[in-house]
Amino acid sequence: MIYMKELMKGFPEGFLWGGATAANQIEGAFDEGGKGLSTSDMAAFKDPYATGKVDNFTFNVTSKELKEYLANPEKYKFPKRWGIDFYHRYKEDIALFAEMGFKVFRLSISWARIFPTGLEDEPNEEGLAFYDKVFDELAKYGIEPLVTMSHYEMPITLVQKYNGWQSRELIGLFEKYGRVLLNRYKDKVKYWITFNEMNMSLHSIYTGAGILGDLVENKMQEGYQAVHHQFVASALVVKAAREIAPNVRIGCMINQIESYAKTTKPEDQLQALKANQLNMFYPDVQARGEYPSYMTRFFADNNINIKMDKDDEKILAEGKVDFVSISYYMSHVAEAREDATDVACTFDSAIKNEHLELTEWDWPIDPTGLRISLLKLYDRYQLPLFVAENGLGAKDVLTEDKKIHDLYRIDYIRKHIIAMKEAIKDGVEVMGYTTWGCIDLISCGTSQMSKRYGFIYVDQDDEGNGSLERYRKDSFYWYKEVIASNGENLGE
Ligand code: BG6
Repeated sequence: MIYMKELMKGFPEGFLWGGATAANQIEGAFDEGGKGLSTSDMAAFKDPYATGKVDNFTFNVTSKELKEYLANPEKYKFPKRWGIDFYHRYKEDIALFAEMGFKVFRLSISWARIFPTGLEDEPNEEGLAFYDKVFDELAKYGIEPLVTMSHYEMPITLVQKYNGWQSRELIGLFEKYGRVLLNRYKDKVKYWITFNEMNMSLHSIYTGAGILGDLVENKMQEGYQAVHHQFVASALVVKAAREIAPNVRIGCMINQIESYAKTTKPEDQLQALKANQLNMFYPDVQARGEYPSYMTRFFADNNINIKMDKDDEKILAEGKVDFVSISYYMSHVAEAREDATDVACTFDSAIKNEHLELTEWDWPIDPTGLRISLLKLYDRYQLPLFVAENGLGAKDVLTEDKKIHDLYRIDYIRKHIIAMKEAIKDGVEVMGYTTWGCIDLISCGTSQMSKRYGFIYVDQDDEGNGSLERYRKDSFYWYKEVIASNGENLGE
């Protein structure tokens, strides 16, 4: 009860405020330090404006494209190869995070920096040493790292040899990688996430699962099979953490997209419920340690047959996570129709919600959906939650005097923080909040630089031109005050 009284005040003491990134969107230096080529190094920039579509996803790569990119790289632009040069500028960037008062910084480790092909017996020392330096720099300022082991990339060799997570072989290779990370950084990293947004694996089968979609006959079958392999790999790493580093806390993650029913019609309500089940299927397995019964019907209806080894169920039961983390950007609308396609686990919502405004990239803005999501997830798992991503991708203007007046971003984040605070007052345990792209970075979905999320502006365009100078946006000063007041001063 004391805890509840504490919660009623709003953000608890020690709440982890900060920002989030991923290796392949910030580091650059794609061929330095012994790093191998990774899947994200093959995301070629396709000018979205040329197609007239704002969200021109570069998520999926075919076998033909991969062959061409490997043979003729000079013909294409691969923005994730250059990132924002965090590899060389991490000290400057961390100093800026510290100036904002960050308590936590979410980053990921590039698998291909540690195991260049994924197949080596021994890790690449230069890659390990790079992250040591980053963690030491964070420690200088008292910033806790929150580390994602796999954020939308893997060594390209594993795609060529195994077609990524389609193969069970990946389980052992990932466990080896996870064990190396836990052993090496157990005294420096307390918070871990095994896989970023595992629920997006089917929508972005190459980015999420390293699968060349044209090589698989039945995408649903192979997609869910790949997810099963990731579940087992993740659970094995959780089990390894208990043994190697019992003090760390290790979580799972989904892109939380709440689906609302289009109308009060019971059939629409049922459709929304099913869409939400499909989205929560992932933490259902990882937090509860077993496949939920509703998936039996779903798999049967869709002719999906998950092949399991005899110990898999035991591994899942023993490898339950400590916390559930989410990214939160939008909500969807579900409607029961003959031709209703699955609205969960995708960035494209077929039906628009007339009550919500859209971002410049047509993503519905829905702070209340964050509160609803947190309430539902906490109710379901009774585990601490972490909002590991949330933010607004927008075009920013750098004025002549090097200022960025991003009041729209402040407005967006403020509303989401208020929603999160209300959820905390409703009784939900939230460990922390890391805004996505706290420093401008390469977009995951579109490989654009111009889709900016940061509090810190990075002078670089979509083509990779620019000084790479960092500038504080108006939101930088605002977020600094939010952190200093532990979420009390939101500048309303
Ligand atoms: C999340 C990913 O889905 O959304 C991030 O984990 C990504 O990697 C973020 O950058 C925003 O998406 P986008 O496509 O705007 O970069």
